[in-house]
Amino acid sequence: MILVTGGAGYIGSHNVIALLNAGYDVVIFDNLELGHIETVNTLKNIVSKGKVIDFIKGDLQNLSDIESVFEKYQIDAVVHFAAYSQVAESVKNPQKYYFNNVYGTMNLLCAMLKNDVKRIVFSSTAATYGEPDYVPIDENHPQKPINTYGKTKLMIENIMDDYDKAYGLRSVRLRYFNVAGADSQNRVGEWHEPETHLIPNILKSTFSGGKTFQMFGTDYPTKDGTCVRDYINIEDLANAHVLALKYLEHGGSTNYFNLGTNEGNSVKEVFVSCENVTGKNITLEEKPRREGDPATLIADNKKAKTDLGWVPEKSLNESIKTAYDWECKLTENIKLGV
Ligand code: UFG
Repeated sequence: MILVTGGAGYIGSHNVIALLNAGYDVVIFDNLELGHIETVNTLKNIVSKGKVIDFIKGDLQNLSDIESVFEKYQIDAVVHFAAYSQVAESVKNPQKYYFNNVYGTMNLLCAMLKNDVKRIVFSSTAATYGEPDYVPIDENHPQKPINTYGKTKLMIENIMDDYDKAYGLRSVRLRYFNVAGADSQNRVGEWHEPETHLIPNILKSTFSGGKTFQMFGTDYPTKDGTCVRDYINIEDLANAHVLALKYLEHGGSTNYFNLGTNEGNSVKEVFVSCENVTGKNITLEEKPRREGDPATLIADNKKAKTDLGWVPEKSLNESIKTAYDWECKLTENIKLGV
């Protein structure tokens, strides 16, 4: 049985599908503050024959909540997503982030140790690198986060190193670049309130009543003046977690990998791709730079390819297409009050 914390959220839910497809039984642990019960219900309905998927509502900040999961289930390994992840909010309210992300993870690790569970795949981030010294960013790039969100994830990586040395708890830390797209069968997708990410914000602006898309910063030292990011498809990303889990199952030692495509796209390029995929002329407003946005973030993904055998397959257009299908469904359901 695999414990998935944050399994009712965007990245967690796609990972639950990937784990089920790979034949694992899954228990989801989520406090439903940012995750959605509708997502849990969808996941429960798609479970394949003979496989188990359970849901426990609980908060990692309550040690007893997470301990009770280990008491109830025979957990073999953990995939840990539950966290706050908004950069701007993390700078305004660091306490919220340190409590939830760092203290919450320590409770999780505590429950793991108590129950002799020694394998974890952890959702880390490119934000642990901070302002890049060079791109593409490889895993040896110094980790100098410039915001609280990135600092919480780096702290957890460091804690995991110590727990390996002292207790033999092995971890794989997956450092995501910009995650994009939705389930190709349109069952789950990105559902943040408020939404801050580029692709859903462009797509949302195409619906009636949607806010005009705001493009933050057109004077960056990049090919067209807008920020360049490495957009990795959510299903490709989810597959990497399954491979990481198998790597640990087969005795792999503690490790860390970038998850990206090795390619960068500017905000303007993404915007044009959204127009092409939706077939709509999208209105935009040019705004000043958003605070804390580095000009360019691109992953060097060779290590994940070599050590995990991971091959990201989906294009940016495929991510935009699935994200658009999902936005249509979400907008329709909200309108219908479903
Ligand atoms: N952008 C806009 N308009 C919007 C939203 C975003 O112009 O409405 C721009 C941003 O300014 C940025 C680019 O689009 O230049 C990408 O922004 P996102 O918010 O989609 O993603 P980020 O690169 O800021 O953040 C992502 C993850 C974070 C992680 C960070 C690592 O979402 O969790 O990468 O740097 F911390």
